[in-house]
Amino acid sequence: MSELGTSASATPQAPAPAAVALDGITKRFPGVVANDRITFSVADGEIHALVGENGAGKSTLMKILYGMQLPDEGTITVKGSERAFRSPKDAIDAGIGMVHQHFMLAGQLSVLENVILGSEPTKGPRIDFDAARERIRELSATQGVPIDPDRQVDTLSVGEKQRVEILKVLFRGADVLILDEPTGVLVPQEVDELFDALRRLTAQGVTIIFISHKLDEVLQIADSITVIRRGQTITSVPAAEVTSRQLAELMVGSELPSPTIRESTVTEDVELAVRDLIVEGPGGRRLVDDVSLSIRGGEVLGIAGVEGNGQTELIETLLGLLPATSGTVELHGRDVTHAPTRQRRDDGLGYIPEDRHARGLLLSAPLWENVMLGHQRQPPFAAGWRTDTQGSRPRTQDKNHT
Ligand SMILES: Nc1ncnc2c1ncn2[C@@H]1O[C@H](COP(=O)(O)OP(=O)(O)OP(=O)(O)O)[C@@H](O)[C@H]1O
Ligand SMILES: [Mg+2]
Repeated sequence: MSELGTSASATPQAPAPAAVALDGITKRFPGVVANDRITFSVADGEIHALVGENGAGKSTLMKILYGMQLPDEGTITVKGSERAFRSPKDAIDAGIGMVHQHFMLAGQLSVLENVILGSEPTKGPRIDFDAARERIRELSATQGVPIDPDRQVDTLSVGEKQRVEILKVLFRGADVLILDEPTGVLVPQEVDELFDALRRLTAQGVTIIFISHKLDEVLQIADSITVIRRGQTITSVPAAEVTSRQLAELMVGSELPSPTIRESTVTEDVELAVRDLIVEGPGGRRLVDDVSLSIRGGEVLGIAGVEGNGQTELIETLLGLLPATSGTVELHGRDVTHAPTRQRRDDGLGYIPEDRHARGLLLSAPLWENVMLGHQRQPPFAAGWRTDTQGSRPRTQDKNHT
């Protein structure tokens, strides 16, 4: 920017104010300083990546910029004017929109209804659906986020749901778009599509803040990068001037150890064997079509594929949540093809679901209930035929168990 004044131009221009400038932002939670005097500035029209380890304070900083959390200290300046956001509505009015790490969509509603929810265009006393549909079509076409406004959100793929979230933000007129870990849920082809859309958006003047810890992606898409570590700004650099290894070292604060190759610990015993597994859905449609695989002790087996090709159904059948139409599943050498989920669990099968918020956790229940669930028939939770809920509290506090 300091180069501008030395150009041959007779009328040197003042540098454009930053799209967003955060200065001295501090946010404390009980026992942790999530943001510690953070300085963060994003130039107009750029893609700026915010990187840092888990818990570094990225989401907190962006929630402050989006008015979801109030900073304890520090200032927010948007296009040269200092602002105090008390709610997301204030941030939206200032042109800032955020797509969260976990989508916030109503699955039963259509794309159109989700996009306009809370900012419905009206004609007299009624919602003007035709105008809304028209505007969504136009945004879809010009901004590179194609989607049919009349589809029900539950029927969309993850990548399409993300487009709905982006459209929601654009529909509200945002020109600063915050994306919190947008690629974590996407398959590679969807990542490419997202990046195309982001480039199109910046070409039309939108500024993008992109949170990620996938450094290769960051280097591919970002113009500049800010690294934060334990709540503090470590550096801001042009993406062209760093390597992913340097970024990783800046994130963790020390030199990365060289990778070591360990001896394989895979045993000869087959612990899980699936043979000729077929799972049919309603109308006889094959959800899993003749899958065979075996996993030995200590082995890590990857299952690759684009979402919606039977991975979920395969896993649910292994767990006993979906019935196998034919074929067999053996766990530790015993046939469990038709065994109930509880027995498979007792036999040592565990499961961490893809969508932990929807399937793995009771978010409104206390931690001790979550820890106990599924084990409530075993000690220390079972007392005779009753469940002893008291047993769960000490266990929840015991770090060796949780
Ligand atoms: N609402 C809250 N209440 C208490 N502590 C919080 C709250 N939100 C965040 N924290 C804490 O603040 C710190 C920063 O969290 P934050 O979610 O901002 O990190 P992050 O960089 O987004 O991490 P991740 O990569 O895992 O998303 C963490 O120690 C976290 O536990
Ligand atoms: Mg986060």
